[in-house]
Amino acid sequence: MASFRIGYGEDAHRLAVGEGRDSKLVIAGVHIPESPTGVIAHSDGDVLLHALADALLSVFALGDIGYYFPPSDPQWRDLDSQQIVRKVYQLMHKHAPSAKVVNVAAVVTLDTPKLGQYRDAMRQTIAELLGIVQEEVGLTFKTSEGLAEGHVQARVSLLVSLG
Ligand code: C5P
Ligand code: MG
Repeated sequence: MASFRIGYGEDAHRLAVGEGRDSKLVIAGVHIPESPTGVIAHSDGDVLLHALADALLSVFALGDIGYYFPPSDPQWRDLDSQQIVRKVYQLMHKHAPSAKVVNVAAVVTLDTPKLGQYRDAMRQTIAELLGIVQEEVGLTFKTSEGLAEGHVQARVSLLVSLG
């Protein structure tokens, strides 16, 4: 009988004009050119991929990305977030070689701009990183209704099958 385990992760970054590495907003590897603000972060500040990496680690209680890639360590400072997800996926596999991601359910909270036109590109990045099809990646966008302007947040849950 197949057994399953869940994973969950979150991340948030502040947004500002002209701050951060390149003052860009990048979500699941997709640049959002019409965003008036960029993420304040040492890395590319990709909240969705950071939340995804933590979700993968949480499946087998393997800690979090700060444990494996401390931002204080210069070797990880400019690490591409897609690389973080790949490395964490490998860690999960080392721990449980039969583990396969079944599906992902993610939410991005951002007041502006609207992200609908980028949904499929983001789903595709996530699907490729996890070796699943785009149809297995659910991605919801929400505003904070003005409660958290200047802020981007991601929440990711996923299901893993142990075969
Ligand atoms: O947060 P709220 O319920 O007001 O969002 C309404 C809709 O706007 C969402 O269901 C989603 O389709 C869209 N949205 C979006 N991009 C955002 C926030 C919301 O496309 N950054
Ligand atoms: Mg609403």
